[in-house]
Amino acid sequence: ESRHAVFGHPITHSLSPRIHAHFGRQTGIPVHFEAIDATPETFPTALEAFAAGGGTGANVTLPLKEAALALCAEVSDRARRAGAVNTLVRKGGQWHGDNTDGTGLVRDLTARQGVDVRQRRTLLIGAGGAAHGVAPALIDAGIGELFIVNRTTARADALVDKLGLPGRVHARYFEDLHAIGEFDLVINATSAAREPGSTNAESGLPKLPTSLVGTRTACVDLSYGEVAIPFLAWARAAGAHNVIDGVGMLVEQAADAFKLWHGVRPYTDEVYTALRERDA
Ligand code: ATR
Repeated sequence: ESRHAVFGHPITHSLSPRIHAHFGRQTGIPVHFEAIDATPETFPTALEAFAAGGGTGANVTLPLKEAALALCAEVSDRARRAGAVNTLVRKGGQWHGDNTDGTGLVRDLTARQGVDVRQRRTLLIGAGGAAHGVAPALIDAGIGELFIVNRTTARADALVDKLGLPGRVHARYFEDLHAIGEFDLVINATSAAREPGSTNAESGLPKLPTSLVGTRTACVDLSYGEVAIPFLAWARAAGAHNVIDGVGMLVEQAADAFKLWHGVRPYTDEVYTALRERDA
């Protein structure tokens, strides 16, 4: 039996062990999948110990995705473009890194939520690891103009530069959002609601004008559970057509990881529905 794990901090509430157990039952592939707590400081040692104990693949979540990239002998093109690794595969005694977050998001939006992303005017809020992870895949999927807004403008500028499509990708200030018009797609990729001291009543984000949202707008939070509540509540109040959290993206990136490890992509609808029912 091969050994797999998800590394992160905190990790106790991770849904990944449940998702992978479900994929194992569905495909008939024996799955031994655990959640391992590691900080950026302890991660290199923890990952080495995991490999020594027979670990052959891992998912990596916050705040370790950049650290994971640095520990890989080889990384996929999309992981390099994202500057982050969320999936590790052990090959020839070395770690190979990939990033399935962006394709996971696009697949959830297009195949499950019925949101066509092509040519869509898109606002990406945040320019940290999560934003880096999804921006290249959104561009590859054919979104229209992309505006990136971030508390620290220099990081938004850096992400825009990195994407290398002047004319199509632009940085903006939070203060200018009231005059920027409506978007087809608004994506919250910040960790504002995870900041210590922020409560569910306040997203921790600077106030977002409701003029960003029109009757056809889809609003997406890349997180799920409690930390997604404030942004999604704002989106609902603003009248968004689709209000989507990160559960579908999580399930899709997990299926992509499962495929990289086991060669089979599981069906995702059943486990998605099971996770939704748990919420209800
Ligand atoms: P992640 O991997 O979740 O993206 P990260 O790389 O630390 O984590 O990035 C966090 C993102 O949330 C950043 O865009 C950050 O803005 P800064 O670059 O200005 O730090 C954003 N963020 C976190 N707390 C925020 C807050 N209270 N208001 C606005 N943006 C916030």
